[in-house]
Amino acid sequence: MNPLQRQQGALRIEDIALADIAARFGTPCYVYSRAALTAAFEDYRSALAGRNALICFAVKANSNLAVLNVFARLGAGFDIVSGGELARVMAAGGDPARVVFSGVSKTEMEMEQALDLGIRCFNVESASELERLDAVAGRLGKVAPVSLRVNPDVDPKTHPYISTGLKTSKFGVPFEDALALYHRAAALPHLRVEGIDCHIGSQILDPAPAAEAAGKIIGLVDRLAAEGIAIHHIDLGGGKGIRYRDEAVLSAAEYLAPLLQITAGRPEQLLFEPGRSLVGNAGLLLTRVEVLKHGEGKNFAVVDAAMNDLVRPALYDAWHDIQPVQSRPGPGQPYEIVGPVCESGDFLGHDRDLALAEGDLLAILSAGAYGMTMSSNYNSRPRAAEVMVDGASAHLVRRREQISELFGQEAILPG
Ligand code: LLP
Repeated sequence: MNPLQRQQGALRIEDIALADIAARFGTPCYVYSRAALTAAFEDYRSALAGRNALICFAVKANSNLAVLNVFARLGAGFDIVSGGELARVMAAGGDPARVVFSGVSKTEMEMEQALDLGIRCFNVESASELERLDAVAGRLGKVAPVSLRVNPDVDPKTHPYISTGLKTSKFGVPFEDALALYHRAAALPHLRVEGIDCHIGSQILDPAPAAEAAGKIIGLVDRLAAEGIAIHHIDLGGGKGIRYRDEAVLSAAEYLAPLLQITAGRPEQLLFEPGRSLVGNAGLLLTRVEVLKHGEGKNFAVVDAAMNDLVRPALYDAWHDIQPVQSRPGPGQPYEIVGPVCESGDFLGHDRDLALAEGDLLAILSAGAYGMTMSSNYNSRPRAAEVMVDGASAHLVRRREQISELFGQEAILPG
C-alpha cells in the first residue's frame, strides 16, 4: 500500500499535505503512515493465514515507540538485539513472551533483563554464549529458552554489508557445528532447547536463497529429532526486500510461498523477523532546500537533512527516491542533493532531475527502515522530529532534539 498521493501538484500522505506537516513540525522530519504500517503487517499476516506463525518485527529497522505500539496492537512479536531495544518494546506495550533476542553477543546484564521479563527465546550465536547464558540463568534460578542461530552458508545476493549467512560472516554458528552445540545445549541444566534460527541477509529480492537456507535448516531439525532433540519453532529470520527504485518486489505471499511449501504440514511454529518490509515504504524524510549552488558542471541542492539523519546513501550507496513536495512547472535540471555536513560523502541523492527553488520541500522516500535508527548527532546536529500520520491526524511521536540535550551529559575538567 502506498500512502502517498499527489493532488494539484501537492504531495500528501494519507489525508494530510506534507507541506502542512512541515509547517507544523519543522524539518528535517521523519513521517510515518499508520495505514501503511498496518497494511504491511497485514500482508504478512494474510500470507501466513492458517499457519501456526509469529511475526516478530525486527526493532532495529525502526524503534520509535509509536511504531512498535502499532505493531504490538496488531499482535506482533519483536526481534531485538539489545537491552535497549527490549526496554523500548516494553515501553511500547509489547508482550515479552513474543520477543526473540538475536545478536552476535549479549551482555550478562542483557541476559538477566530478558530472563527477568520472560522472553520467548534467545537466538544464541556462539558456543561461549551458550555457556554464559546457562550460567546467568542458573544464577537467577531460571531456565533460558534457546535457539541456535545456524549459519546455512547461503548467498542472499544482496549488498555485502547486509549479507549475514555466509560462512565468512561473524553471525551464527557454523552449520557443521550445530548438531554438537544442540547436544551441549540440551545437556546444560539451565537451558531449554526451544527452536532453531537463521537469517541470511537483508533487502533480498529473490526468495530462492531463503528457501535454500530453510531447506538446510529443516534437514537439521529432522536430524535433531532423530537424535532426541525436539525443536518447537523454526525462525527463518527477516530479509524481504522493498522497492526503493524499480526493483521487482514480491508480495509477502509470493516471497513466503517457497518457505511455506517446504515447511507444509510440519508441527513446528514458524517465526519470521521482518524489519525493512514492514516499515521501509511506510516512512519518508521531509527536508527543505536551504541553498542552491550552480557550480562547474554540477548543481547542488543543499537541504536541511544530512547523512546524520539518513546514512544509507553514504554507507551503502543506497538509492532513495526524492520527490518535490509541491511540483513546479517547467523543466528540471540535474541536482546533487546534499546535506550541510562536512563530508563529501554527505549526499542523499546524485543526479536527480528536479525543478527547485530555495525554500522548497523535498520528500526522501522509503526512509521508514534504517533511517532514524541509524541517525547520529554528527556535526552536533540535533536528531530530526518524527511524526505519525493516522488518516487526517498527525501526531508528534518524537520531538526534535534540542541543542542543549546534545551535550547535557558531558562535563569539563575541574579547576
Ligand atoms: N533478523 C536479524 C537477525 C537481523 O540481523 C536483521 C537485520 C533482521 C532480522 C531484519 O532484516 P530485514 O527484514 O530488515 O531485512 N542497515 C541496513 C540493514 C541491516 C540489516 C541488519 N539485520 C540497511 O539500511 O539496509
